[in-house]
Amino acid sequence: MQVPDIIIAVDGYSSTGKSTFAKLIASSFGFLYLDSGALYRGVTLFALERGLISAAGVDEAGLRSALPGLELHFERDEKGTRLFCGPRCIEGEIRTMEVSSYVSPVSALPFVRSWVDEHLHAFSESGRVVMDGRDIGTTVFPQAEVKLFMTARSEVRARRRYDELVLKGENPDFEEVLHNLEERDRIDSSRAVSPLRRAADAFVLDNSEMSLEEELIWLQGLLQGKFGILEA
Ligand code: DC
Repeated sequence: MQVPDIIIAVDGYSSTGKSTFAKLIASSFGFLYLDSGALYRGVTLFALERGLISAAGVDEAGLRSALPGLELHFERDEKGTRLFCGPRCIEGEIRTMEVSSYVSPVSALPFVRSWVDEHLHAFSESGRVVMDGRDIGTTVFPQAEVKLFMTARSEVRARRRYDELVLKGENPDFEEVLHNLEERDRIDSSRAVSPLRRAADAFVLDNSEMSLEEELIWLQGLLQGKFGILEA
């Protein structure tokens, strides 16, 4: 299907399959895929490694002064899109439970959000981008032509996340995964800066009972209607 040069924003709750769907959109329509959550995770890993996160919380002043020294970028190859910190691939390390437990307080910091937003704008200069996150349609790209807001029942989402962690060789506890996910949604939705919420013009996609293929068919229908695309 011939989709015009637009920006597609995919926002929604944790573990709703936003990145899987956004990657499929990218490969189906020849779009560049950008994972904004990966950048927040990269900043969180950086803060952990610098000893800027402790039981007392995030050392905001320390992180603010260290952040300009952080270099994150995406590399794309046959393995997909992976996040790098300088020459080091950190794609695996940013997806651990440890990073997941601290990423929400880190991403609630306004100076971290500005740093990530600047990077997202620089990475998407050429347009024809699909980007997933929590505030893409509301804050990062409010002018995005197509906005999706993904949701699913929390038990369904926790089961997906649990299976992902098991596949990676971790030994997760289902209740802990469910709690982490609900807690992240709570913090993400209630923070003062750019909270997770549906943009007024976003289309809601509840995929609790949908396959990835059905999601793509749903989107194709939406794009055909919106842009008057005739052929499938
Ligand atoms: O999509 P993810 O689970 O990898 O995102 C990790 C965290 O980053 C998530 O808990 C909230 C935060 N995030 C955000 O605040 N804004 C975004 N645009 C993307 C992610």
